[in-house]
Amino acid sequence: KEFNVAILGATGAVGTRMIQQLEQSTIPVKSVKLLASSRSAGKVLQFKGQDVTVEETTPDSFNGIDLVLSSAGGSTSKKFLPEAVKRGAVCVDNTSAFRMEKEVPLVIPEVNEKALYNHRGIISNPNCSTIQMVVCLEPIYKKFGLKQVIVSTYQAVSGAGQSALNELMEESQQVLNGEPTDPKILPTKGDKKHYQMAFNLLPQIDVFEQDGYYTHEEWKMIHETKKIMLDDMDAKDIKVTATCVRVPIRIAHGETVYFEVADKSATTDQIKDALDGADGVVLQDDTAHQIYPQSINAEGKRETFVGRVRPDYENEGAFNMWVVSDNLLKGAAWNAVQIAERLVADDLVRVPDNPYLG
Ligand code: A2P
Repeated sequence: KEFNVAILGATGAVGTRMIQQLEQSTIPVKSVKLLASSRSAGKVLQFKGQDVTVEETTPDSFNGIDLVLSSAGGSTSKKFLPEAVKRGAVCVDNTSAFRMEKEVPLVIPEVNEKALYNHRGIISNPNCSTIQMVVCLEPIYKKFGLKQVIVSTYQAVSGAGQSALNELMEESQQVLNGEPTDPKILPTKGDKKHYQMAFNLLPQIDVFEQDGYYTHEEWKMIHETKKIMLDDMDAKDIKVTATCVRVPIRIAHGETVYFEVADKSATTDQIKDALDGADGVVLQDDTAHQIYPQSINAEGKRETFVGRVRPDYENEGAFNMWVVSDNLLKGAAWNAVQIAERLVADDLVRVPDNPYLG
């Protein structure tokens, strides 16, 4: 069987990578439809060397579509994905719109592929920073158990979209030229104030939660991790806390992850062994030769890179590690296409009789 695929948000930072990842995937593609807003309608992009004209998204855009890959913002997903499901399309959504819904599997193929069997038309891709952390925690959890995780992120600007990336480049040039900057997008487009990102760090990703303490990005890392690893967003079996910081780089998020395992006899070598060769993970850890993951080396790669794995000498059973991955690929486009590949392989590209319609 061959599939009619639609990419919603095809002109965006993630959407353009979805096109590329789909080109390189094992999915037999019959046709590709590229969808965006009216702003981009008529623009011509390419799929496997063929011109494809971008179309404005309407509910009927999904007639005859088997599979949707979407990354056009949460409100766009809320509006259109139920319409796509009604028309028989299975949707893999990169936005946070449906991630926490009970009826929606939140999937990292290396970790909880089986959850795909329960899908009712919509499958969510986790948050980019959650994905790369959990891909590394899972092999450790399986061997040694996990009690607590404390993560701090160093997140690239492309996570906020193409317009944020353009803003960083423009501001950097302005600062180098000694000109004033005029921030309009970062830290988060929807919030009231905007700050310079160039040569700066911003400890705000997404809006602040009702509690006035955590950002929504931090909330996502905490609760998505539990939904993926424990199948329960409020589970207390693994305690998770997060600090998310935007840094002025283009692509690839870095994370320092402190974790305490249940099996106190675990050694650093055993932790490194568990990571080495784990599905989707590449260990780059040789301090004698200054080998460790770097953002610029992770760009364009599907894998998650881990290094600086080391013991916390003050706490038994506790370790630190440094995790880097391309936020637009494993953190978004590749994870979505990888889910789609598994759906195809397991014959799950069909909407069941009790579809989830939002
Ligand atoms: P457009 O190019 O027409 O604005 P990014 O995450 O890089 O900001 O990209 C967002 C993507 O979502 C773009 O492809 C953008 O298309 C698309 N998009 C934004 N709003 C809508 C909408 N209301 N309907 C369809 N696509 C949208």
